[in-house]
Amino acid sequence: MPIQFISDSKTFHLYNDSVSYIIKILPEGMPSHLYYGARLPLRDNYDYLMESIHRPMSVTRTENSSLSLEHIRSEFPSALSGDMRPGALCLRQANGSVITEFLYTSHSITKGKPALENLPACYVEGEEEAQTLVLVLEDALLHVRLELLYTIYENRPVLCRSARIVNDSDQQVILDTFLSASIDLPDDHYEMLDLAGAWARERHIDVHPLHTGCQSIYSLRGHSSHNFNPFLCLKKPWTTENTGEAFGFSLVYSGNFIASADVDTYNTTRVQLGINPTTFSWPLEQGESFQSPEAVLVYTKNGLNAMSQAFHSLFRQRLARGVWRDQARPILLNSWEGVYFDVREDEILHMAKEARDLGVDLFVLDDGWFKARNDDTSSLGDWVEDRSKLPHGLDGLSEQINNMGLEFGLWIEPEMISRHSDLFEAHPEWVLQVPGRRQSAGRNQYVLDFSNPQVVDAIYEQLRSLFDKISLSYVKWDMNRSLSEVYSLALDPSQQGTVYHRFILGVYRLYERLIERYPHILFESCASGGARFDPGMLYYAPQAWTSDDTDAIERLKIQYGTSMVYPISSMGSHVSACPNHQLNRYTPLKTRADVAYFGTFGYELNPIEMSEKEKEIVRKQIAFMKEHRELIQFGTFYRLRSPFDGNETAWMVVSEDQKTALVGYYRILQKVNSRYRRLFLQGLLPEQEYSISSFDYTQTGEELAQAGLIITDSSAGENNIDRSQGDFLSRLYLLRAID
Ligand code: DGJ
Repeated sequence: MPIQFISDSKTFHLYNDSVSYIIKILPEGMPSHLYYGARLPLRDNYDYLMESIHRPMSVTRTENSSLSLEHIRSEFPSALSGDMRPGALCLRQANGSVITEFLYTSHSITKGKPALENLPACYVEGEEEAQTLVLVLEDALLHVRLELLYTIYENRPVLCRSARIVNDSDQQVILDTFLSASIDLPDDHYEMLDLAGAWARERHIDVHPLHTGCQSIYSLRGHSSHNFNPFLCLKKPWTTENTGEAFGFSLVYSGNFIASADVDTYNTTRVQLGINPTTFSWPLEQGESFQSPEAVLVYTKNGLNAMSQAFHSLFRQRLARGVWRDQARPILLNSWEGVYFDVREDEILHMAKEARDLGVDLFVLDDGWFKARNDDTSSLGDWVEDRSKLPHGLDGLSEQINNMGLEFGLWIEPEMISRHSDLFEAHPEWVLQVPGRRQSAGRNQYVLDFSNPQVVDAIYEQLRSLFDKISLSYVKWDMNRSLSEVYSLALDPSQQGTVYHRFILGVYRLYERLIERYPHILFESCASGGARFDPGMLYYAPQAWTSDDTDAIERLKIQYGTSMVYPISSMGSHVSACPNHQLNRYTPLKTRADVAYFGTFGYELNPIEMSEKEKEIVRKQIAFMKEHRELIQFGTFYRLRSPFDGNETAWMVVSEDQKTALVGYYRILQKVNSRYRRLFLQGLLPEQEYSISSFDYTQTGEELAQAGLIITDSSAGENNIDRSQGDFLSRLYLLRAID
């Protein structure tokens, strides 16, 4: 049983083979955190883990002068209530006070994992996969109940946490802060690793030592953002990809979040994750409840690769849902960089025919297909095809594309509205706007009030009547601006602090209704590239557009960083034309594909413009991906060499049975008379002999790990002009077990 309750010492030990998480209910009733880390032996009492010494200047309880909330490690600290650090909960009451005291009343331990109401969350398939502890606490003065939920998976180094609050009192209370998890670690000797960036350079790895005080990453943009991802990792300074401790914290949420590490002056570190309190204030009437999003915690002592692999397999198998979850992804051709807004039926059909001849599975019509959408200044909200561009309609187009033997996919941006649109004419009040104030535009567009269920219903109806009439296998759901000046005309002034969260709930509701009605459709989420690449989205759309930057060299950092948390099967990755549209850079077609293979794979260019020689290469690339996509998308991924450390990048995937592997090696600039180089491979069977593509000798898994794969090559020099060498080089090595 992975959750043990030791009644004598009122201790809960959540454990599996890899991790232990220990909570003690103090005699006064507050749940105190004793331990989180590598698995500890079972015992009846872990009181030795309590550190509680009297310190001058502490505020203490009158009846027990040695108990100060300042110095106990708390499971869910109330703000300003004797614990001087940031709270996980701040609840405003009718008398103006925010002081609360939540004490243990009961608990339950059940098999399995409950779903969270209206929120994405990890799940189980079969009750034996996990156990859930619910700690029930109460503020006796207010009669408000707090439930802390902890799920531990049997065979994964994973814990899921969330919190639920129920107002059983006779008054309204206002939640000003309600986070998902708070954990007090007993030391501060960590580096914080997070994923930071901006448009076209999302999720770059950012590492810095913890310092005293609070360090945080956050979003206030209404989506999880290009700038920070709802993820942070604390690792020891000596932790590498393959060794050392790492704690990963990920929030299953797509809106404004905060993730912080607060180091106090006694060297304890409080890690917190949840909805960003800056844009959150939620009135809770008598009888109402509020559920926080889920925080996912991964612990490993085997380095960052092990942490990432735990996230990958959990998010791929127990967060993503639907028929596409376990299926290799179709190789697609997306029209965006090929024709942008200049959509014309004859050209689209020509592109589709070329794509089909190359071996593509799915044709995706991106932006520009609907009413008068000739640039980004108009038409969002009017989800009807432009007959002047598509005389046979989308039904006619999709049918012709299907008849060619291709699936058909479509781009939409349901949360947005243009002022030049029929929808705006009819419902200007459906735009998020503060009465009397100017409303900022983003990409010339405005944001629909998805906190208003009427608006979500209306967009659903438009999409339903569209999707019902076409043969659709794939939808790319885009979102191209941050939210600003957020205010809902449909809500009372007292409810305005709920709008950001209600907006995201509206997005989730629309997704849920669409996937319920169209379970066969593969959804890909997108937000100006990767501004909403988060676990919340993966629950609805098993893949996401990683970045608008399709340059192969830039993609090395973006995909490497993204792989810290997200599985390869979730990363939208396309080969685009050269010069690259974001950077004007020329890279070999081989390198572009060798990078894009490590994702969902597709092309984003106009195949009509390709030369015969290029088409020949692309045909082979597609055939290669078709042969290996199960291995790549569902294998175990290892980062081998970081693009953040220099000129080279390497990564590999290994099949579940460890008999096949694919290594990707990339060198940005060619060096003259270069050094000897080896790659130390991971995840192979030590005794197994492997053949290595393009090598005429074999090596065992152990040799490949210890002695390495030799990747030294000749470089240009006197009398040695090797045309296969040069800048932006890539190589793939396919390893197969020899029986
Ligand atoms: C932003 C997306 O990231 C692009 O891939 C493309 O779909 C455009 N929007 C279309 O407007």
